[in-house]
Amino acid sequence: MKKLIINENKKLNQISEDIYGHFAEHLGRCIYEGIFVGKDSDIPNVNGMRTDVVEALQELEIPVLRWPGGCFAEDYHWKEGVGPLEQRKPVINSLWGGVLESNHFGTHEFFELCEQLDCKSYVNLNMGSASVREMQEWVEYMTGEVDSELVLQRKANGREEPFELDYVGIGNEMWGCGGHMNPEHYASEFRRYNNFARTYNWNAPFRRIASGPNRGDYDWTERVMKGLMTNHDGRDEIDDYYHMTGSNVTGLALHYYCFPKMEHPRGYATDFDGGEYYRTLESAAHIEELVIKHSEIMRKYDPEGEVKLMVDEWGAWYQTEDGTSPFFLYQQNAMRCAQVAAMTLNIFNKHSDKIDMANIAQTVNVLQAMILTEGDKMITTPTYHVFNMMKPHKNASLIESRLEGVEKIGVEGAQVADLFESTSRTRKGVITTTLNNTSMTNAHELVVEFAELKPENVTATILVGAPDAHNTFENPENVVPADFTDFEITDQGIKLTVPACAVITLQVK
Ligand code: AHR
Repeated sequence: MKKLIINENKKLNQISEDIYGHFAEHLGRCIYEGIFVGKDSDIPNVNGMRTDVVEALQELEIPVLRWPGGCFAEDYHWKEGVGPLEQRKPVINSLWGGVLESNHFGTHEFFELCEQLDCKSYVNLNMGSASVREMQEWVEYMTGEVDSELVLQRKANGREEPFELDYVGIGNEMWGCGGHMNPEHYASEFRRYNNFARTYNWNAPFRRIASGPNRGDYDWTERVMKGLMTNHDGRDEIDDYYHMTGSNVTGLALHYYCFPKMEHPRGYATDFDGGEYYRTLESAAHIEELVIKHSEIMRKYDPEGEVKLMVDEWGAWYQTEDGTSPFFLYQQNAMRCAQVAAMTLNIFNKHSDKIDMANIAQTVNVLQAMILTEGDKMITTPTYHVFNMMKPHKNASLIESRLEGVEKIGVEGAQVADLFESTSRTRKGVITTTLNNTSMTNAHELVVEFAELKPENVTATILVGAPDAHNTFENPENVVPADFTDFEITDQGIKLTVPACAVITLQVK
């Protein structure tokens, strides 16, 4: 029998809602077809955004959306994506399959999408192949209030008020597709670009994110943090006032994908054996070590902890589905993905004192997607359902909780804890626990104990299925959440059995 001990009186930090954020890149069928079909499409849409997808994402209450990449951001020239559609010049998306990029989804369309989703905007600015001036002008175009030439151009293009820009990324993967820079070079270029990417709307300054490490590249974190945080001449206080300082940075991006195999071919999303299953989950669980170690290095240069970790790309990366372009990164999504999502979000909740934002890759039709589309059809994935079930943690207070009796399970060389959890409390006092049982085969008996609380009003939701269970266009509701009533309220607390490969959200009101 395992035990979950919750101290409902010990409130820790607030869980930033942005940890439940998303990422949409001009890659494969994510933006075009997946989200944007254009106003003239037969697929029902509002201003070009497909209604079915927007409504499904509205249900998730997504807090923040990152765009336009990823690596695509480093090839993106914003001026090509504004103005009348017929005047926007097509370019080649040389990163993702050499296909034609129509530029029909640009700045105005992105903010339209954020408005339809009622979410924050995170624009990853191009640093790799754009000049300082190009970056500066994009920021001015988006946020400027007075009638400069660029602001007048924005108005002529249909947007009177400044767009609400919440986050900017100053480059993406600058150790790789952003220009293969070394850390010192990037840190000093960051200062220069960041300095000119000024806030043109002083009432609404945006937050700035530096390109951080890939996986366990601690050397990158060390050298970039040193370069960004070392004060050169004591002028930073004045610069901060004008939001102009080179070192004004609020986040460091971490990218981490988990795989069934490091080498190619990586293995399919729905066709795998026990070894691949546990290797994927072990690889997903490794993110906890990365969060701890990267944060420790960051604290050396930022003792107050003002620069947070932003895990702005994460998720499971499998072999692309047969018959699809290898550059489009289209993969199915099974209960194994639900385990990856629940485990990762549980880990992020537990470390939400260090993490301010995370963005799963990617929203539609790419990598570990929420939604898959085929023509005018759309399905939601097990990952989508996990995000929906875990919504109550957003902006809630993490509370102290710990598991007893957890064991490592798996195969030789790939061992993972057999149960994960995180627990939070909303302002109204609702306690939410999310549990995920990683075992392919075994249920776990569990007692949930509280410090003082005698639970009375308990509700629960379960997502369960074989590890390879998934939704298809023929059977879209094969894996969907259901009410879970198989628990008992006892003198000790709540007694339940967590089935194999299940995710359960328990709510105590
Ligand atoms: O998400 C797909 C790609 O993975 C992104 O473009 C890039 O940033 C990362 O390497």
